[in-house]
Amino acid sequence: MALDEFTANAEIIGRDEINDLEAILSVTNTDIDEAVHAVEDNADAIFTWDYEKGARPGLNKLYEKAKGAQWNAQTDLPWDTEVDLEKNAEIQRLQYAELEQDLSGTPLEKFSEQDMIQLSIESDNWTLSQFMHGEQGALICTAKIVESVPWIDAKYYAATQVMDEARHVEVFAKYLDEKLRGHYPINAHLKMLLDDIINDSRWDMTYLGMQVMVEGLALAAFGFMQQMTPDPLLRQMLRYVMSDEARHVAFGVLSLKEYYAGLTDAELRERQEFAFEAAVRMRDRFLQQEVWDRMGIKPKEILPAVIQDPGRAMFQQMLFSKIVPNCKKLGLLDAGDGWLRTKFTELGVIQFEDWQDTGEEYESLQATG
Ligand SMILES: [Fe+2]
Ligand SMILES: [Fe+2]
Repeated sequence: MALDEFTANAEIIGRDEINDLEAILSVTNTDIDEAVHAVEDNADAIFTWDYEKGARPGLNKLYEKAKGAQWNAQTDLPWDTEVDLEKNAEIQRLQYAELEQDLSGTPLEKFSEQDMIQLSIESDNWTLSQFMHGEQGALICTAKIVESVPWIDAKYYAATQVMDEARHVEVFAKYLDEKLRGHYPINAHLKMLLDDIINDSRWDMTYLGMQVMVEGLALAAFGFMQQMTPDPLLRQMLRYVMSDEARHVAFGVLSLKEYYAGLTDAELRERQEFAFEAAVRMRDRFLQQEVWDRMGIKPKEILPAVIQDPGRAMFQQMLFSKIVPNCKKLGLLDAGDGWLRTKFTELGVIQFEDWQDTGEEYESLQATG
């Protein structure tokens, strides 16, 4: 049994041990200067001749909501807000002060207060850069869903999501360019995950990878940043983006709930493995290896201490607070022999299984419309 599990891990995520730091850090983005990145997208474009609108009432309701909830990235946000990065970083450091761990014996031991503030600024820049790249992934994946999903209500809804995602890429890029200092390139783990999602020929895998896993994590991560940031512009921007994201995750949950009901255990097992792979890739990216490089610290020397940090462990688990209940709602946790339940237990995130799923929650998160 144990041997089976190890073989599965190596096949799915490229290493036996989920927490093998050496293996995680060996994956780096070597194409940081590339201007474009091509990915084979193996799906057929599907026409449907069944135009009956509302045949899937849940999706139809989402579509009607989305039409009324559009906002304008250029005119609906207070872009004239002054953003003082040093001051905001100081405020944030005070908020985290309680959670701070003992840094003696780590490379951070010699960091001055000024260095710590710089680290916090870099970390926010990195996080927002990855959000921006992830948003472009969502734009491309959802355009693919418009083509590949066979249901007219889903094509209609996905078309509104394409517009939402264009707006999200637009706001993150504008915020990074005008308020922060430059971008970070895409993280290798995130890039690998987006490539895998786009590469898969099965239309439901785009939904599982993007709407349920990537957007489920984004919704939790945006919520966390929205609560912690002292910047009113960023707070407002994230509030609007979250309002859209909640609909997107609901779109994934409603569509897959119907589709998975007709799948065999063997087919569901492939979905479970894909969900696990996505979860691990997203967890790996949060090590922020590029930030340590930029701060002149070898990730290998600092990360063993960072991983031990209890505040960080809590944050990392919290990122899965939307994903786990949504996977449960889809029947993925317990399908077959409950393989995904075992894996989420190993990842330390199973405690969220009975939290509210986004199929229900999205209406309470609406900010516009
Ligand atoms: Fe988005
Ligand atoms: Fe989205």
